[in-house]
Amino acid sequence: MEKTAVELFAGVGGFRVGLNDITAFDENGRAIENGPWKFVWANQWEPATKAQHAFECYATRFGKDDSSNVDIAQVNKADIPDHTLLTGGFPCQDYSVAHPKNSEKGIEGKKGVLWWQIDEILKVKQPKFVLLENVDRLLKAPSSQRGQAFGIILRCFADAGYGVQWRVINAADYGHPQKRRRTFIFAFHNSTDYYANFSKAGRKQKPDATILSDTIFAKGFPCKEKNEAKLSQGNLSKKTFHDLVEVSNKFAFPFGNSGYLLSYDFYTLDVVPSQTIAPKTLGEILDSNNVPDFCYKADYDKFKYLKGSKKIVRIAKNGHEYIYSEGAIPFPDKLDEPGRTMLTSEGTTNRSSHYIQDPKSGQFRILTPVECERMDEFPDNWTNTGMPQKFRYFIAGNALVTGLIKTMGAQINVIIDSESK
Ligand SMILES: C[S@@+](CC[C@H](N)C(=O)[O-])C[C@H]1O[C@@H](n2cnc3c(N)ncnc32)[C@H](O)[C@@H]1O
Repeated sequence: MEKTAVELFAGVGGFRVGLNDITAFDENGRAIENGPWKFVWANQWEPATKAQHAFECYATRFGKDDSSNVDIAQVNKADIPDHTLLTGGFPCQDYSVAHPKNSEKGIEGKKGVLWWQIDEILKVKQPKFVLLENVDRLLKAPSSQRGQAFGIILRCFADAGYGVQWRVINAADYGHPQKRRRTFIFAFHNSTDYYANFSKAGRKQKPDATILSDTIFAKGFPCKEKNEAKLSQGNLSKKTFHDLVEVSNKFAFPFGNSGYLLSYDFYTLDVVPSQTIAPKTLGEILDSNNVPDFCYKADYDKFKYLKGSKKIVRIAKNGHEYIYSEGAIPFPDKLDEPGRTMLTSEGTTNRSSHYIQDPKSGQFRILTPVECERMDEFPDNWTNTGMPQKFRYFIAGNALVTGLIKTMGAQINVIIDSESK
């Protein structure tokens, strides 16, 4: 089986960096790809700005030939080159569907919901394997019907002929320098040997054993059952929910942070890491010798206030007065722990931006763009491709911890190497 891949919602290429173990770029700025994946197509388009900084960065590192910079909704899915592995990080949105007005037939989701773009590619291109990333709350969304969003995703995969594995992973639990908790989804088409082997192994043991030892996530990120966790199971077949609209209207489930789906049956369990791995700390990734002046200009007093505990009187839309309160978070950030989750607002004067006391200069400052790249495990200066500094922070907050993808890639390589066709 060819190791060909497509990167959707590519940003600055986190899946490609991880899967091809990229640690550097050459004097022309081109990524040095160590393989084994040939990326035959990538798509990245930022709807919020005219400037396309993430795409320009991607194109600098990988070339423009196989990279597309248009809204994925405008792409004719049949034109996407054939590929074995579909990858992408997509947002948690409202995946609800309904029948079109005046018709019992057909299904309509909200416009601009990116899952439906992925779903269309599954149907049209039928890639053998799929690796996706989303926020951890995907499994519990929306709050009014917990698990509905993920139930819709599972049903779509099952309808398109896939088995699915999932796991919420905190990168810091496995030695990476950021406490970033994300849901990862691995899907495999029922025409693969892997599907047959995974199902067969599953029939010989209890589903919790499969979750704890057989999924690509269990193999790459060893885990054990969380204290007092219980396996639960459910079914998303046409007998239970006759179409996706019924799943959308009725399905709710308390999904555990790990699980799998085969032939419309799913099994889920809460797991925790089974080994203690010393995390890489924020202190270890600092670049104290190369701190641009602007990083020292951030307002100390404002950061101190933002990160402190507070009680503020606020007025709700209905005119009702209430007290908004929040607890203190570390000020400055701890250097002997991994960084906290970076958001797209990183670097701005914001409660969630990192703010540190530099151990070399003794002065307080925000992180540098390179330090943010290091928290995501990109090569230094990966995003230094001509964009304004503030976008380098934004992009780092959008990206993923590439070392996790490298570990998943190693598992997927083993699978592809043993496929017979
Ligand atoms: C969560 S980020 C993924 C970041 C990426 N994994 C990385 O390593 O940089 C989602 C990306 O999807 C892009 N995006 C949003 N809407 C899009 C659309 N309609 N078509 C194509 N890309 C889109 C955003 O600009 C953003 O870069």
